[in-house]
Amino acid sequence: MAALDGARVVLGVTGGIAAYKAVEVSRRLVDAGAHVIPVLTEGAEHFVGRTTFDALASEKVQTSLWDEQSPIPHTLLGQSADLIVVAPATARLLSDYRTGRSADLLTTTLIATAAPVLLAPAMHTEMWEHPAVQENLDVLASRGVHIVPAEPGRLAGGDIGFGRLAAPRTIVAHAERVLAGGDLLDRHVVVTAGGTSEPIDAVRVISNRSTGKQGYALAEAAWARGANVTLISTVDREAPVGVTVVPVETAADMQRAVMAVDDADVIIMAAAVADFRPKDPAAVKIKKDGDAVPEIELEKTHDFLVDLGNNKPTGQVLVGFAAETDNLIDNAKGKLARKKLDLIVANDVSAPDVGFAHDTNQVTILISDGSQIEVPLNSKRVIADAIFDAVVRVQTTLP
Ligand code: CTP
Repeated sequence: MAALDGARVVLGVTGGIAAYKAVEVSRRLVDAGAHVIPVLTEGAEHFVGRTTFDALASEKVQTSLWDEQSPIPHTLLGQSADLIVVAPATARLLSDYRTGRSADLLTTTLIATAAPVLLAPAMHTEMWEHPAVQENLDVLASRGVHIVPAEPGRLAGGDIGFGRLAAPRTIVAHAERVLAGGDLLDRHVVVTAGGTSEPIDAVRVISNRSTGKQGYALAEAAWARGANVTLISTVDREAPVGVTVVPVETAADMQRAVMAVDDADVIIMAAAVADFRPKDPAAVKIKKDGDAVPEIELEKTHDFLVDLGNNKPTGQVLVGFAAETDNLIDNAKGKLARKKLDLIVANDVSAPDVGFAHDTNQVTILISDGSQIEVPLNSKRVIADAIFDAVVRVQTTLP
């Protein structure tokens, strides 16, 4: 969440039942390092108390054009903000903002700002579907206002339908994407994650210790930087916001899923793909048979990263990983050349707090032009952004 770190975010809250979720949005923004200034409308105060925001946000709640310290709070707020988020945004807020009606502190601030604006609408289904509301959203989007669409789900009064406020984690991920600068805007980034499982029989597998955390952090970072992201994954983790997940299990499944993508601008093979698999997996569970121990004959899997390197389309950036326990740099350099990669991320998985299952990592990025970037121990998300910094650098030098 690097883009939110230190950012001044005005969090507008309007009067809808989903206003209670704005408390969670505020907390998550603060956790990501943002300085959050809550602005509540009169309607919002019917649903949530200002004391909660006073305690959780970075500044006290502001509500009025008239009762604050400054005679011009709206211009101060508007000019000093890096981002304005309105969650929830009611139908009335959309209408006022579209027509430029400065009805209160929030709408006046929206009109007085040059900062990017992110709206997370929420309302009853009938209102959401009304042509006036949809037209207001279209017009605002055409002016460059960012919108986190409402979702289907349970609404006030127990109704089920469209119009529910997006989840706080979704709103905060969008806020980060708006601020991040979009250096991968509209690029298709494909990331593989997790260790493959190769069946021995109907219930047993050979696998490895990869948990997919680095791959998921890469997918999250790519989406934040504006990319369309496909995550081909063997693990069952919560999908990062905005990312399309393709579940796979074996090396062969993963190969098929990767090869099915024909428009990737960046491919990052973060998965720990099995090098060997049982040659003839049994269709049923192998039963114990006295003292006999079954022999499992292995065969090599196909190294499809080699195929990707041999058939790399012009302009594509191909990234491999080298998880090593010894001779880190020499082994990684060998793989970089042999697999015709643009860059390889080498990590010493025998070092403490590094590699499989940890929340942190420490890597060396080797680039095909011979340069080398050391990325010290940090969260896997920070490592992911360092990898994309290198990807973007390489991409600008490609023909
Ligand atoms: N890889 C792949 N297909 C395989 C094996 C590996 O696409 N069947 C990819 C991995 O996703 C990783 C890179 O190749 O990005 C390096 O994998 P690794 O297992 O470290 O390299 P190998 O070439 O298999 O070498 P070794 O196992 O001898 O270290």
